[in-house]
Amino acid sequence: MYDTLRRLWLQLEDAFNAPFGQSLNPWYHLGALAFHLFWVVAASGAYLYVFYRTGVHEAYQSVERLTHGQPYAGGVMRSVHRYASDGMVLTMMLHLARNLGTGRFRHFRWFSWVTGIVLIWLVYACGINGYWLVWDRLGQFIAEATSQWFGWLPLFSEPLERNFLLPTDVSDRFFTLLSFAHVTLPLLLLLLMWLHTKRINNAETFPPRPLAGGVILMLVALSVLHPALSQGAADLGTVDAIRPDWFYLAPYAALYATSPGALWALLVGSTVLLLSAPWLLRRPPQQPVEVHLENCNGCTQCFDDCPYSAIAMQPRRDGRPYELEPVVDGGLCASCGICVGSCPFSMPFRTGSLVSGLELPGRPLAVLRSETDRRLATLHGKEPVVVFGCDHSFDVCTLQDPGVAAISLPCIGMLPPAFVDYALRDGRARGVLIVGCRAGDCHFRLGIHWIEQRLARRRAPYLRQRVPPDLVEVCWAGAPDAERVLAALAELRGRSGAARG
Ligand code: HEM
Ligand code: SF4
Ligand code: SF4
Repeated sequence: MYDTLRRLWLQLEDAFNAPFGQSLNPWYHLGALAFHLFWVVAASGAYLYVFYRTGVHEAYQSVERLTHGQPYAGGVMRSVHRYASDGMVLTMMLHLARNLGTGRFRHFRWFSWVTGIVLIWLVYACGINGYWLVWDRLGQFIAEATSQWFGWLPLFSEPLERNFLLPTDVSDRFFTLLSFAHVTLPLLLLLLMWLHTKRINNAETFPPRPLAGGVILMLVALSVLHPALSQGAADLGTVDAIRPDWFYLAPYAALYATSPGALWALLVGSTVLLLSAPWLLRRPPQQPVEVHLENCNGCTQCFDDCPYSAIAMQPRRDGRPYELEPVVDGGLCASCGICVGSCPFSMPFRTGSLVSGLELPGRPLAVLRSETDRRLATLHGKEPVVVFGCDHSFDVCTLQDPGVAAISLPCIGMLPPAFVDYALRDGRARGVLIVGCRAGDCHFRLGIHWIEQRLARRRAPYLRQRVPPDLVEVCWAGAPDAERVLAALAELRGRSGAARG
Protein backbone atom coordinates (compact mmCIF):
# COMPACT_ATOMS: atom_id res chain seq x y z
CA MET A 1 0.00 0.00 0.00
CA TYR A 2 2.72 2.45 1.09
CA ASP A 3 4.88 1.44 -1.90
CA THR A 4 1.96 1.97 -4.30
CA LEU A 5 1.37 5.46 -2.86
CA ARG A 6 5.07 6.22 -3.17
CA ARG A 7 5.03 5.10 -6.81
CA LEU A 8 2.00 7.28 -7.57
CA TRP A 9 3.73 10.20 -5.90
CA LEU A 10 6.84 9.68 -8.03
CA GLN A 11 4.70 9.57 -11.17
CA LEU A 12 3.05 12.85 -10.22
CA GLU A 13 6.45 14.47 -9.72
CA ASP A 14 7.70 13.01 -12.99
CA ALA A 15 4.93 14.84 -14.86
CA PHE A 16 6.77 18.06 -13.92
CA ASN A 17 10.10 16.77 -15.23
CA ALA A 18 9.01 17.23 -18.85
CA PRO A 19 8.36 21.02 -18.65
CA PHE A 20 10.94 21.87 -15.95
CA GLY A 21 13.69 19.28 -16.35
CA GLN A 22 14.92 17.23 -13.38
CA SER A 23 17.10 19.95 -11.90
CA LEU A 24 14.39 22.66 -11.91
CA ASN A 25 11.44 20.49 -10.93
CA PRO A 26 9.76 22.56 -8.16
CA TRP A 27 8.85 19.38 -6.23
CA TYR A 28 12.55 18.88 -5.52
CA HIS A 29 13.02 22.39 -4.12
CA LEU A 30 9.98 22.90 -1.88
CA GLY A 31 11.95 23.67 1.32
CA ALA A 32 14.16 26.13 -0.58
CA LEU A 33 11.08 27.70 -2.18
CA ALA A 34 9.49 28.16 1.27
CA PHE A 35 12.70 29.93 2.35
CA HIS A 36 12.65 32.10 -0.78
CA LEU A 37 9.01 33.05 -0.19
CA PHE A 38 9.88 33.97 3.39
CA TRP A 39 12.42 36.51 2.11
CA VAL A 40 9.90 37.89 -0.39
CA VAL A 41 7.36 38.27 2.44
CA ALA A 42 10.00 39.93 4.65
CA ALA A 43 11.15 42.38 1.94
CA SER A 44 7.61 43.37 0.86
CA GLY A 45 6.57 43.54 4.54
CA ALA A 46 9.43 45.94 5.34
CA TYR A 47 8.14 48.28 2.61
CA LEU A 48 4.56 48.11 3.93
CA TYR A 49 5.77 48.79 7.45
CA VAL A 50 7.15 52.17 6.43
CA PHE A 51 3.64 53.35 5.54
CA TYR A 52 1.61 51.40 8.08
CA ARG A 53 0.16 53.39 10.99
CA THR A 54 -0.78 51.68 14.22
CA GLY A 55 -4.12 52.87 15.58
CA VAL A 56 -7.73 51.77 15.38
CA HIS A 57 -8.61 54.24 12.62
CA GLU A 58 -5.17 54.87 11.14
CA ALA A 59 -4.48 51.18 10.48
CA TYR A 60 -7.22 50.68 7.90
CA GLN A 61 -6.74 54.12 6.34
CA SER A 62 -2.97 53.77 5.99
CA VAL A 63 -3.40 50.44 4.19
CA GLU A 64 -6.02 51.98 1.89
CA ARG A 65 -3.74 54.95 1.12
CA LEU A 66 -0.92 52.58 0.34
CA THR A 67 -3.09 50.37 -1.92
CA HIS A 68 -4.78 53.12 -3.93
CA GLY A 69 -2.42 56.07 -3.47
CA GLN A 70 0.60 54.27 -4.92
CA PRO A 71 -0.86 51.29 -6.79
CA TYR A 72 2.36 50.53 -8.70
CA ALA A 73 4.52 50.32 -5.59
CA GLY A 74 2.46 49.98 -2.43
CA GLY A 75 -0.46 48.18 -4.12
CA VAL A 76 1.78 45.65 -5.81
CA MET A 77 3.92 45.26 -2.67
CA ARG A 78 0.84 44.58 -0.57
CA SER A 79 -0.41 41.98 -3.05
CA VAL A 80 3.02 40.37 -3.34
CA HIS A 81 3.17 40.24 0.48
CA ARG A 82 -0.16 38.46 0.64
CA TYR A 83 0.39 36.04 -2.23
CA ALA A 84 3.91 35.16 -1.10
CA SER A 85 2.50 34.39 2.37
CA ASP A 86 -0.10 32.12 0.75
CA GLY A 87 2.69 30.57 -1.31
CA MET A 88 4.59 29.83 1.87
CA VAL A 89 1.65 27.85 3.26
CA LEU A 90 1.31 25.99 -0.02
CA THR A 91 4.99 25.08 -0.40
CA MET A 92 5.30 24.20 3.30
CA MET A 93 2.31 21.84 3.16
CA LEU A 94 3.54 20.21 -0.06
CA HIS A 95 7.02 19.88 1.50
CA LEU A 96 5.41 18.14 4.49
CA ALA A 97 3.32 15.84 2.26
CA ARG A 98 6.38 15.02 0.15
CA ASN A 99 8.58 14.17 3.12
CA LEU A 100 5.79 12.02 4.52
CA GLY A 101 5.03 10.40 1.15
CA THR A 102 8.66 9.56 0.41
CA GLY A 103 9.38 8.29 3.92
CA ARG A 104 11.76 11.15 4.76
CA PHE A 105 10.73 11.69 8.36
CA ARG A 106 12.07 8.74 10.35
CA HIS A 107 15.18 8.11 12.41
CA PHE A 108 17.87 10.82 11.96
CA ARG A 109 15.28 13.09 10.26
CA TRP A 110 13.10 13.34 13.38
CA PHE A 111 14.59 16.71 14.32
CA SER A 112 13.76 18.39 10.98
CA TRP A 113 10.34 16.77 11.10
CA VAL A 114 9.44 17.94 14.61
CA THR A 115 10.74 21.50 14.07
CA GLY A 116 8.80 21.48 10.77
CA ILE A 117 5.53 20.83 12.62
CA VAL A 118 6.25 23.75 14.98
CA LEU A 119 6.98 25.89 11.90
CA ILE A 120 3.44 25.28 10.64
CA TRP A 121 1.94 26.80 13.80
CA LEU A 122 4.29 29.75 13.59
CA VAL A 123 3.61 30.44 9.90
CA TYR A 124 -0.12 30.41 10.65
CA ALA A 125 0.31 32.72 13.63
CA CYS A 126 2.25 35.21 11.44
CA GLY A 127 -0.36 35.13 8.64
CA ILE A 128 -3.40 35.44 10.88
CA ASN A 129 -1.72 38.25 12.80
CA GLY A 130 -1.11 40.02 9.45
CA TYR A 131 -4.75 39.87 8.38
CA TRP A 132 -5.75 41.26 11.75
CA LEU A 133 -3.48 44.31 11.27
CA VAL A 134 -5.44 45.58 8.24
CA TRP A 135 -8.50 46.02 10.47
CA ASP A 136 -11.03 45.61 7.69
CA ARG A 137 -14.07 43.31 7.84
CA LEU A 138 -11.82 40.31 7.43
CA GLY A 139 -9.60 41.53 10.30
CA GLN A 140 -12.72 42.03 12.38
CA PHE A 141 -13.91 38.51 11.57
CA ILE A 142 -10.52 37.13 12.61
CA ALA A 143 -10.60 39.11 15.87
CA GLU A 144 -14.03 37.78 16.75
CA ALA A 145 -13.42 34.20 15.63
CA THR A 146 -10.00 33.99 17.33
CA SER A 147 -11.37 35.30 20.61
CA GLN A 148 -14.22 32.77 20.44
CA TRP A 149 -11.74 30.02 19.72
CA PHE A 150 -9.19 30.96 22.41
CA GLY A 151 -11.98 31.97 24.82
CA TRP A 152 -12.99 28.32 24.99
CA LEU A 153 -9.76 27.54 26.85
CA PRO A 154 -10.25 27.58 30.64
CA LEU A 155 -7.60 30.30 30.99
CA PHE A 156 -9.74 33.39 30.92
CA SER A 157 -12.15 34.59 33.59
CA GLU A 158 -14.63 36.11 31.13
CA PRO A 159 -15.45 35.41 27.48
CA LEU A 160 -12.76 36.95 25.25
CA GLU A 161 -15.23 37.91 22.51
CA ARG A 162 -16.56 40.61 24.84
CA ASN A 163 -13.42 42.56 23.96
CA PHE A 164 -14.73 43.03 20.42
CA LEU A 165 -18.38 43.97 20.95
CA LEU A 166 -18.18 47.76 20.50
CA PRO A 167 -15.89 50.06 18.47
CA THR A 168 -14.64 51.57 21.76
CA ASP A 169 -13.50 48.12 22.94
CA VAL A 170 -10.39 48.23 20.73
CA SER A 171 -7.57 50.61 21.62
CA ASP A 172 -4.58 52.04 19.76
CA ARG A 173 -2.31 50.24 22.20
CA PHE A 174 -3.80 46.97 21.11
CA PHE A 175 -2.73 47.74 17.54
CA THR A 176 0.77 48.64 18.66
CA LEU A 177 0.89 45.21 20.30
CA LEU A 178 -0.39 43.53 17.13
CA SER A 179 2.21 45.23 14.95
CA PHE A 180 4.98 44.40 17.45
CA ALA A 181 3.89 40.76 17.20
CA HIS A 182 4.04 41.04 13.40
CA VAL A 183 7.76 41.76 13.66
CA THR A 184 8.69 39.37 16.44
CA LEU A 185 6.78 36.35 15.13
CA PRO A 186 8.57 36.36 11.73
CA LEU A 187 11.90 36.76 13.54
CA LEU A 188 11.04 33.72 15.63
CA LEU A 189 10.02 31.96 12.43
CA LEU A 190 13.39 32.71 10.87
CA LEU A 191 15.17 31.40 13.96
CA LEU A 192 13.17 28.19 13.80
CA MET A 193 13.81 27.83 10.06
CA TRP A 194 17.53 28.06 10.82
CA LEU A 195 17.15 25.41 13.54
CA HIS A 196 15.09 23.27 11.16
CA THR A 197 17.99 23.00 8.72
CA LYS A 198 20.79 23.03 11.30
CA ARG A 199 21.41 19.29 11.13
CA ILE A 200 21.51 19.35 7.35
CA ASN A 201 24.89 19.81 5.70
CA ASN A 202 24.74 22.27 2.77
CA ALA A 203 20.98 22.72 3.21
CA GLU A 204 19.41 24.10 0.06
CA THR A 205 17.96 27.35 1.37
CA PHE A 206 18.03 29.13 -2.02
CA PRO A 207 16.18 27.58 -4.95
CA PRO A 208 17.87 27.55 -8.38
CA ARG A 209 17.82 31.07 -9.87
CA PRO A 210 15.35 30.39 -12.70
CA LEU A 211 12.85 29.00 -10.16
CA ALA A 212 13.38 31.89 -7.74
CA GLY A 213 12.97 34.44 -10.55
CA GLY A 214 9.94 32.62 -11.95
CA VAL A 215 8.24 32.71 -8.55
CA ILE A 216 8.78 36.47 -8.23
CA LEU A 217 7.46 37.06 -11.76
CA MET A 218 4.39 34.97 -10.99
CA LEU A 219 3.75 36.89 -7.78
CA VAL A 220 4.03 40.26 -9.53
CA ALA A 221 1.80 39.12 -12.41
CA LEU A 222 -0.82 37.83 -9.97
CA SER A 223 -0.61 41.08 -7.99
CA VAL A 224 -1.21 43.21 -11.10
CA LEU A 225 -4.01 41.03 -12.46
CA HIS A 226 -5.70 40.38 -9.13
CA PRO A 227 -4.63 42.96 -6.54
CA ALA A 228 -5.17 42.21 -2.86
CA LEU A 229 -7.81 44.61 -1.53
CA SER A 230 -9.33 45.34 1.86
CA GLN A 231 -12.91 44.32 2.55
CA GLY A 232 -14.33 47.57 4.00
CA ALA A 233 -13.42 49.13 7.35
CA ALA A 234 -14.05 47.04 10.46
CA ASP A 235 -17.27 47.97 12.21
CA LEU A 236 -17.64 46.16 15.53
CA GLY A 237 -21.22 45.30 16.36
CA THR A 238 -22.14 44.60 12.72
CA VAL A 239 -21.83 41.32 10.87
CA ASP A 240 -20.94 41.21 7.16
CA ALA A 241 -20.14 38.48 4.70
CA ILE A 242 -16.38 38.20 4.10
CA ARG A 243 -14.17 36.54 1.52
CA PRO A 244 -11.75 34.38 3.51
CA ASP A 245 -8.23 33.50 2.47
CA TRP A 246 -8.51 29.72 2.49
CA PHE A 247 -4.77 29.20 2.86
CA TYR A 248 -4.79 30.72 6.34
CA LEU A 249 -8.39 30.76 7.39
CA ALA A 250 -9.59 27.25 6.60
CA PRO A 251 -9.42 26.37 10.36
CA TYR A 252 -11.96 29.12 11.02
CA ALA A 253 -14.42 27.41 8.67
CA ALA A 254 -14.05 24.33 10.87
CA LEU A 255 -14.67 26.53 13.93
CA TYR A 256 -18.09 27.58 12.63
CA ALA A 257 -18.92 24.16 11.18
CA THR A 258 -18.25 22.53 14.57
CA SER A 259 -17.27 24.23 17.84
CA PRO A 260 -14.16 25.81 19.43
CA GLY A 261 -13.60 22.62 21.47
CA ALA A 262 -13.81 20.46 18.34
CA LEU A 263 -11.34 22.73 16.50
CA TRP A 264 -8.86 22.49 19.38
CA ALA A 265 -9.29 18.71 19.42
CA LEU A 266 -8.74 18.55 15.64
CA LEU A 267 -5.65 20.77 15.57
CA VAL A 268 -3.98 19.51 18.74
CA GLY A 269 -4.85 15.89 17.83
CA SER A 270 -3.40 16.15 14.31
CA THR A 271 -0.32 17.97 15.63
CA VAL A 272 0.36 15.22 18.19
CA LEU A 273 -0.23 12.55 15.56
CA LEU A 274 2.16 14.23 13.12
CA LEU A 275 4.73 14.84 15.85
CA SER A 276 4.74 11.16 16.73
CA ALA A 277 4.88 9.94 13.09
CA PRO A 278 8.67 9.26 13.18
CA TRP A 279 8.11 6.86 16.09
CA LEU A 280 4.65 5.52 15.16
CA LEU A 281 5.77 4.60 11.63
CA ARG A 282 9.26 3.58 12.69
CA ARG A 283 11.17 0.96 10.71
CA PRO A 284 14.14 -1.05 12.00
CA PRO A 285 17.10 1.35 11.93
CA GLN A 286 20.33 0.56 10.06
CA GLN A 287 23.59 0.47 11.99
CA PRO A 288 25.58 3.72 11.82
CA VAL A 289 28.90 3.92 10.06
CA GLU A 290 32.05 2.95 12.05
CA VAL A 291 35.45 4.64 12.01
CA HIS A 292 38.61 2.56 11.45
CA LEU A 293 41.33 4.94 12.56
CA GLU A 294 44.12 2.61 11.42
CA ASN A 295 43.02 3.47 7.85
CA CYS A 296 42.43 7.19 8.28
CA ASN A 297 44.73 10.14 7.64
CA GLY A 298 42.28 12.77 8.90
CA CYS A 299 41.76 14.30 5.44
CA THR A 300 38.24 15.61 6.43
CA GLN A 301 36.67 14.54 3.12
CA CYS A 302 34.05 12.43 4.92
CA PHE A 303 33.24 15.38 7.21
CA ASP A 304 32.73 17.64 4.15
CA ASP A 305 30.55 15.15 2.30
CA CYS A 306 28.24 13.83 5.05
CA PRO A 307 24.73 15.10 4.18
CA TYR A 308 23.49 15.11 7.78
CA SER A 309 26.48 16.58 9.65
CA ALA A 310 26.91 13.27 11.48
CA ILE A 311 30.73 13.50 11.41
CA ALA A 312 32.80 15.84 13.55
CA MET A 313 36.58 16.20 13.23
CA GLN A 314 38.44 16.09 16.54
CA PRO A 315 42.09 16.20 17.60
CA ARG A 316 43.77 12.88 16.95
CA ARG A 317 43.97 10.55 19.96
CA ASP A 318 45.71 7.43 18.60
CA GLY A 319 49.24 8.88 18.54
CA ARG A 320 49.56 8.66 14.75
CA PRO A 321 51.11 11.67 12.99
CA TYR A 322 47.86 13.21 11.79
CA GLU A 323 46.09 16.24 13.16
CA LEU A 324 42.47 15.12 13.13
CA GLU A 325 40.21 12.11 13.36
CA PRO A 326 36.54 11.72 12.45
CA VAL A 327 33.96 10.96 15.14
CA VAL A 328 30.50 9.76 14.12
CA ASP A 329 27.34 10.67 16.02
CA GLY A 330 25.28 7.49 15.61
CA GLY A 331 22.02 9.37 16.30
CA LEU A 332 22.58 11.61 13.27
CA CYS A 333 23.96 8.98 10.92
CA ALA A 334 21.67 8.03 8.01
CA SER A 335 23.71 4.90 7.18
CA CYS A 336 23.87 6.18 3.62
CA GLY A 337 27.52 5.25 3.15
CA ILE A 338 28.33 8.51 1.34
CA CYS A 339 31.36 8.96 3.60
CA VAL A 340 32.63 5.52 2.57
CA GLY A 341 32.57 6.75 -1.04
CA SER A 342 34.51 9.87 0.06
CA CYS A 343 37.34 8.11 1.84
CA PRO A 344 40.66 7.83 -0.04
CA PHE A 345 41.17 4.45 1.67
CA SER A 346 38.17 2.95 -0.19
CA MET A 347 40.54 1.37 -2.70
CA PRO A 348 39.47 -1.97 -4.21
CA PHE A 349 42.91 -2.39 -5.82
CA ARG A 350 44.49 -2.95 -2.42
CA THR A 351 45.72 -6.48 -2.04
CA GLY A 352 44.67 -8.51 0.96
CA SER A 353 41.96 -7.36 3.28
CA LEU A 354 40.06 -4.23 2.35
CA VAL A 355 38.96 -1.96 5.19
CA SER A 356 38.31 1.73 4.63
CA GLY A 357 38.54 4.64 7.09
CA LEU A 358 34.78 4.35 7.51
CA GLU A 359 32.71 1.24 7.08
CA LEU A 360 28.99 0.51 7.12
CA PRO A 361 28.65 -2.63 9.30
CA GLY A 362 25.81 -3.95 7.11
CA ARG A 363 27.68 -3.27 3.85
CA PRO A 364 31.47 -3.58 4.29
CA LEU A 365 33.60 -2.52 1.36
CA ALA A 366 35.33 -5.91 1.28
CA VAL A 367 31.92 -7.52 0.58
CA LEU A 368 31.23 -4.95 -2.14
CA ARG A 369 34.54 -5.85 -3.75
CA SER A 370 33.96 -9.62 -3.56
CA GLU A 371 30.42 -9.15 -4.92
CA THR A 372 31.83 -7.11 -7.82
CA ASP A 373 34.43 -9.82 -8.49
CA ARG A 374 31.84 -12.59 -8.34
CA ARG A 375 29.47 -10.82 -10.73
CA LEU A 376 32.28 -9.87 -13.10
CA ALA A 377 33.41 -13.51 -13.22
CA THR A 378 30.03 -14.64 -14.56
CA LEU A 379 29.68 -11.82 -17.11
CA HIS A 380 29.75 -12.77 -20.76
CA GLY A 381 28.36 -11.54 -24.08
CA LYS A 382 29.56 -8.88 -26.51
CA GLU A 383 29.26 -5.75 -24.41
CA PRO A 384 29.30 -6.85 -20.76
CA VAL A 385 28.34 -4.03 -18.45
CA VAL A 386 28.41 -3.44 -14.68
CA VAL A 387 25.52 -1.42 -13.25
CA PHE A 388 25.96 0.21 -9.85
CA GLY A 389 22.64 1.40 -8.43
CA CYS A 390 21.01 2.57 -5.23
CA ASP A 391 18.40 0.97 -2.98
CA HIS A 392 16.15 4.07 -3.17
CA SER A 393 15.94 4.63 -6.90
CA PHE A 394 15.28 2.32 -9.85
CA ASP A 395 15.89 -1.30 -8.80
CA VAL A 396 18.99 -2.16 -10.86
CA CYS A 397 18.80 -5.84 -9.85
CA THR A 398 15.93 -6.20 -12.38
CA LEU A 399 18.55 -5.62 -15.13
CA GLN A 400 20.67 -8.60 -14.07
CA ASP A 401 21.36 -10.97 -17.01
CA PRO A 402 24.41 -12.76 -18.43
CA GLY A 403 25.64 -9.51 -19.96
CA VAL A 404 24.79 -7.25 -17.00
CA ALA A 405 26.24 -7.43 -13.50
CA ALA A 406 24.00 -5.33 -11.23
CA ILE A 407 25.00 -4.20 -7.74
CA SER A 408 22.85 -2.03 -5.51
CA LEU A 409 24.22 0.19 -2.70
CA PRO A 410 22.41 2.07 0.10
CA CYS A 411 23.15 5.30 -1.84
CA ILE A 412 25.02 5.75 -5.11
CA GLY A 413 27.15 8.30 -3.25
CA MET A 414 28.69 5.31 -1.42
CA LEU A 415 30.41 4.16 -4.61
CA PRO A 416 34.13 5.01 -4.50
CA PRO A 417 35.12 6.10 -8.05
CA ALA A 418 37.97 3.57 -7.92
CA PHE A 419 35.34 0.82 -8.23
CA VAL A 420 34.53 2.07 -11.76
CA ASP A 421 38.18 1.70 -12.69
CA TYR A 422 38.26 -1.66 -10.90
CA ALA A 423 35.29 -3.03 -12.89
CA LEU A 424 36.82 -1.97 -16.21
CA ARG A 425 40.26 -3.36 -15.36
CA ASP A 426 41.60 -5.86 -17.92
CA GLY A 427 38.43 -5.43 -19.98
CA ARG A 428 36.38 -7.47 -17.50
CA ALA A 429 33.47 -5.13 -18.20
CA ARG A 430 33.11 -2.97 -21.31
CA GLY A 431 31.14 -0.26 -19.59
CA VAL A 432 29.88 0.96 -16.21
CA LEU A 433 26.41 2.39 -15.76
CA ILE A 434 25.75 4.39 -12.60
CA VAL A 435 22.12 4.71 -11.56
CA GLY A 436 20.86 6.93 -8.72
CA CYS A 437 17.73 8.83 -7.69
CA ARG A 438 16.28 11.46 -10.01
CA ALA A 439 18.45 14.58 -10.18
CA GLY A 440 17.42 16.90 -7.35
CA ASP A 441 15.70 14.06 -5.51
CA CYS A 442 18.57 12.09 -3.96
CA HIS A 443 17.13 10.19 -0.98
CA PHE A 444 20.21 11.19 1.00
CA ARG A 445 20.30 14.67 -0.50
CA LEU A 446 23.90 14.85 -1.74
CA GLY A 447 24.77 11.35 -3.00
CA ILE A 448 24.25 11.92 -6.71
CA HIS A 449 25.70 15.41 -6.53
CA TRP A 450 28.97 14.13 -5.04
CA ILE A 451 29.32 11.13 -7.35
CA GLU A 452 28.71 13.35 -10.38
CA GLN A 453 31.52 15.64 -9.23
CA ARG A 454 33.86 12.76 -8.42
CA LEU A 455 33.34 11.23 -11.86
CA ALA A 456 33.92 14.63 -13.48
CA ARG A 457 37.16 14.86 -11.42
CA ARG A 458 35.98 18.00 -9.66
CA ARG A 459 35.79 16.49 -6.18
CA ALA A 460 37.99 14.02 -4.32
CA PRO A 461 38.29 11.11 -4.57
CA TYR A 462 38.69 11.62 -8.31
CA LEU A 463 37.98 9.10 -11.01
CA ARG A 464 41.38 8.19 -12.48
CA GLN A 465 42.35 9.81 -15.77
CA ARG A 466 42.96 6.42 -17.37
CA VAL A 467 39.20 5.61 -17.33
CA PRO A 468 37.85 6.40 -20.83
CA PRO A 469 34.79 8.67 -20.41
CA ASP A 470 32.96 6.78 -23.16
CA LEU A 471 32.83 3.69 -20.97
CA VAL A 472 30.95 5.39 -18.14
CA GLU A 473 27.32 6.49 -18.23
CA VAL A 474 25.14 7.97 -15.48
CA CYS A 475 21.37 7.80 -15.26
CA TRP A 476 19.26 9.49 -12.58
CA ALA A 477 16.03 7.55 -12.36
CA GLY A 478 13.22 6.92 -9.88
CA ALA A 479 11.61 3.53 -9.20
CA PRO A 480 9.18 3.75 -12.17
CA ASP A 481 11.76 5.02 -14.71
CA ALA A 482 12.70 1.70 -16.37
CA GLU A 483 12.61 3.22 -19.87
CA ARG A 484 15.15 5.89 -18.93
CA VAL A 485 17.54 3.30 -17.50
CA LEU A 486 17.20 0.94 -20.47
CA ALA A 487 17.89 3.84 -22.83
CA ALA A 488 21.04 4.74 -20.86
CA LEU A 489 22.17 1.10 -20.95
CA ALA A 490 21.66 0.93 -24.72
CA GLU A 491 23.52 4.22 -25.17
CA LEU A 492 26.46 2.94 -23.11
CA ARG A 493 26.60 -0.34 -25.03
CA GLY A 494 26.47 1.53 -28.34
CA ARG A 495 29.36 3.76 -27.28
CA SER A 496 31.51 0.98 -25.87
CA GLY A 497 30.87 -1.10 -29.03
CA ALA A 498 31.90 1.87 -31.20
CA ALA A 499 35.03 2.43 -29.06
CA ARG A 500 35.99 -1.20 -29.55
CA GLY A 501 35.21 -1.20 -33.28
C1 HEM B 1 8.64 27.46 6.88
C2 HEM B 1 8.53 26.24 6.50
C3 HEM B 1 9.66 25.36 6.09
C4 HEM B 1 10.84 25.67 5.50
C5 HEM B 1 11.31 27.04 5.06
C6 HEM B 1 11.58 24.46 5.32
C7 HEM B 1 12.81 24.37 4.73
C8 HEM B 1 13.54 23.23 4.60
C9 HEM B 1 14.82 23.13 3.93
C10 HEM B 1 15.53 24.28 3.24
C11 HEM B 1 15.25 21.85 4.05
C12 HEM B 1 16.56 21.28 3.51
C13 HEM B 1 16.34 20.74 2.13
C14 HEM B 1 17.60 20.10 1.60
O1 HEM B 1 18.60 20.79 1.45
O2 HEM B 1 17.59 18.88 1.36
C15 HEM B 1 14.25 21.12 4.79
C16 HEM B 1 14.34 19.79 5.10
C17 HEM B 1 13.35 19.10 5.77
N1 HEM B 1 12.13 19.58 6.15
FE1 HEM B 1 11.49 21.49 6.00
N2 HEM B 1 10.85 23.42 5.84
C18 HEM B 1 9.66 23.93 6.31
C19 HEM B 1 8.64 23.22 6.87
C20 HEM B 1 8.65 21.86 7.08
C21 HEM B 1 7.56 21.09 7.55
C22 HEM B 1 6.18 21.64 7.85
C23 HEM B 1 7.98 19.80 7.65
C24 HEM B 1 7.24 18.58 8.09
C25 HEM B 1 6.68 18.49 9.20
C26 HEM B 1 9.36 19.76 7.24
C27 HEM B 1 10.16 18.64 7.25
C28 HEM B 1 11.44 18.57 6.76
C29 HEM B 1 12.26 17.38 6.77
C30 HEM B 1 11.88 16.02 7.35
C31 HEM B 1 13.46 17.72 6.15
C32 HEM B 1 14.66 16.79 5.90
C33 HEM B 1 14.51 16.19 4.51
C34 HEM B 1 15.66 15.28 4.14
O3 HEM B 1 16.42 14.89 4.99
O4 HEM B 1 15.77 14.91 2.98
N3 HEM B 1 9.73 21.02 6.88
N4 HEM B 1 13.23 21.98 5.10
S1 SF4 C 1 26.80 7.05 6.56
FE1 SF4 C 1 25.96 8.97 5.66
S2 SF4 C 1 25.03 10.06 7.37
FE2 SF4 C 1 26.36 8.46 8.28
S3 SF4 C 1 28.28 9.50 8.66
FE3 SF4 C 1 28.46 8.58 6.63
S4 SF4 C 1 27.79 10.18 5.18
FE4 SF4 C 1 27.13 10.82 7.24
S1 SF4 D 1 37.62 10.43 4.48
FE1 SF4 D 1 38.66 8.61 5.31
S2 SF4 D 1 40.76 9.29 5.61
FE2 SF4 D 1 39.57 11.14 5.36
S3 SF4 D 1 39.03 11.74 7.49
FE3 SF4 D 1 37.34 10.50 6.72
S4 SF4 D 1 37.83 8.41 7.39
FE4 SF4 D 1 39.72 9.61 7.56
